[in-house]
Amino acid sequence: MKMKAITLTEYGGPEVLHLTEVPKPTPKADEILIKVKATPIGVGDLWVRDFKSITPREFSMPAPFWLISRFVFGLRKPRINILGAQLSGEVVDVGSSVTRFKVGDAVMAYLGQSFGANAEYVSLKETKAVVHKPETLSFVEAALVPYGAMTAISLLDRVDIQSGDKVLINGASGGIGSFAMQLAKHYGAEVTGVCGTRRIDMVKALGADHIIDYSAVDFTNNGKQYDLILDVLGKSSFERCEQSLTDTGTYFAVSFKGKQLWQMLTTRGKSKRVICALSSETLQTLERAQALVEQDVFKVVVDKTFPLAQTADAHRYLESGQYTANIAITV
Ligand SMILES: NC(=O)c1ccc[n+]([C@@H]2O[C@H](COP(=O)([O-])OP(=O)(O)OC[C@H]3O[C@@H](n4cnc5c(N)ncnc54)[C@H](OP(=O)(O)O)[C@@H]3O)[C@@H](O)[C@H]2O)c1
Repeated sequence: MKMKAITLTEYGGPEVLHLTEVPKPTPKADEILIKVKATPIGVGDLWVRDFKSITPREFSMPAPFWLISRFVFGLRKPRINILGAQLSGEVVDVGSSVTRFKVGDAVMAYLGQSFGANAEYVSLKETKAVVHKPETLSFVEAALVPYGAMTAISLLDRVDIQSGDKVLINGASGGIGSFAMQLAKHYGAEVTGVCGTRRIDMVKALGADHIIDYSAVDFTNNGKQYDLILDVLGKSSFERCEQSLTDTGTYFAVSFKGKQLWQMLTTRGKSKRVICALSSETLQTLERAQALVEQDVFKVVVDKTFPLAQTADAHRYLESGQYTANIAITV
């Protein structure tokens, strides 16, 4: 049996993505077969589509991570032939030992570095990061939850946000920042979201108390101080932010290199400190994300959807920077 998928066999621009027919997966005893309904396009898809061009300097993690990623994603040609790291869909078949799901269940899942969601079907072990889709979300909205919510939850576990704390998210409109902002609000913080001009309405809709457009204002010079500055892309630095941190403030580098790891070591036990951490993308974290959606803590804003066949256009739209919120593929 065959299914439609967007495949790539060479690195490059959106033109390397083609609608093709590939074998339809058959679920093993401990797997579920999901008919994909929606899958977002994110920065991870852009990176893996052309990982050959990403230099260690451009890569936002320490050089050893870049080297490992070169091997994982393929040295000369992509080893990941179907992109898409997260999805929502409907269970259409279950293996003989599956207990958590039945045919007809609506689910959302995180595939992570194995990718594969830009396809009609995905087969997944039921013990992986897959949960029932919250009823309050559409399939498109649900597909946007796993990556950002799981990353934000597991990273913010590393800091103790108190009610009334002032938190600044540098990159509040992105996959991670949009959820980190909502979670910080849920913990009772007064949240400032930093984003680009086109995404201001989205950040407002997600509940930011204050919004800073990074193309117009440098938040490190606005005279304000924060208990936590969470910098998603590392566009600022601890040095630049030091004056913007309260006496016990934390600079959280979500994207970090050796320098930030060194700063984490040397600021340990000091009043102003640096934190770097890796997210944990487990089933338990996705279950927490699911519960937070059900408690109305997490919302998502969608700008545009594209049919599977137009996945290359969705990549072009993301790369153009014209989007106002999230982009997803509907299958
Ligand atoms: N620590 C970990 O375990 C972990 C886990 C996953 C990912 N990461 C890292 O997280 C990063 C991806 O995060 P993401 O998925 O949230 O990315 P994303 O969806 O692309 O979002 C990037 C955010 O940064 C903002 N931004 C762009 N240029 C900026 C500037 N000059 N100043 C301030 N903000 C700016 C964007 O704003 P606009 O869109 O409004 O312009 C957007 O809000 C990668 O570097 C990845 O390595 C780390």
